[in-house]
Amino acid sequence: MNKQADWRDRLDSALKGNRRDAYSRYLQLATVGLDGAPRCRTLVFRGFLEESNTLLAITDGRSQKVEEIARDNRAQVHWYFARSREQFRMETRVTMADLGRQGNLIADVWSRLSEAARDQFFWHPPGEPLESGETLSPTESPPNTFRLMLMEPQKVDYLWLGKRHQRVISVSSGDMWEETQVNP
Ligand SMILES: Cc1cc2nc3c(=O)[nH]c(=O)nc-3n(C[C@H](O)[C@H](O)[C@H](O)COP(=O)(O)O)c2cc1C
Repeated sequence: MNKQADWRDRLDSALKGNRRDAYSRYLQLATVGLDGAPRCRTLVFRGFLEESNTLLAITDGRSQKVEEIARDNRAQVHWYFARSREQFRMETRVTMADLGRQGNLIADVWSRLSEAARDQFFWHPPGEPLESGETLSPTESPPNTFRLMLMEPQKVDYLWLGKRHQRVISVSSGDMWEETQVNP
């Protein structure tokens, strides 16, 4: 058993080593659809929840994924770093930041968004027929449609396509992580 999450060190160094590529901050999140089939989409990684390994992303509260997560919060993050040829597949539990307890964090993430990114939260509801549904009046503070997603990894499957391929599975039990090297 290992207290420290070694996969987190690998992820930090992948982020650092690939930072010249803007797309290295795009991850894919797969959820369980309302019909039980998989649904996958790209999200921008917005950093980690302070003093944790929980990944942050933002989304629109009216989007399909939010309904899916409310019903089943198991989700898989997939992240490939092209420059360093590293793949992370993470089994996560997703929750939405709580306005009461995490209002400051929500406001902080909102304040760091570009104007273009903020604007989308006032548009017509995503996924509805074009230009149907209501638009919202822009506000300074985060609107009701803004959601901060917390993706907490439970299991990480790391694959490095280096000279000699390496694969490491990390499983969490509470604060501890157990790591096993497996055949790639
Ligand atoms: C490069 C890229 C980055 C994206 N970033 C986000 C994001 O950070 N948050 C988000 O909700 N959707 C983002 N999207 C759009 C989603 O992939 C998806 O189309 C949208 O959220 C609707 O998904 P849903 O219907 O499964 O909820 C991004 C798309 C691309 C291509």
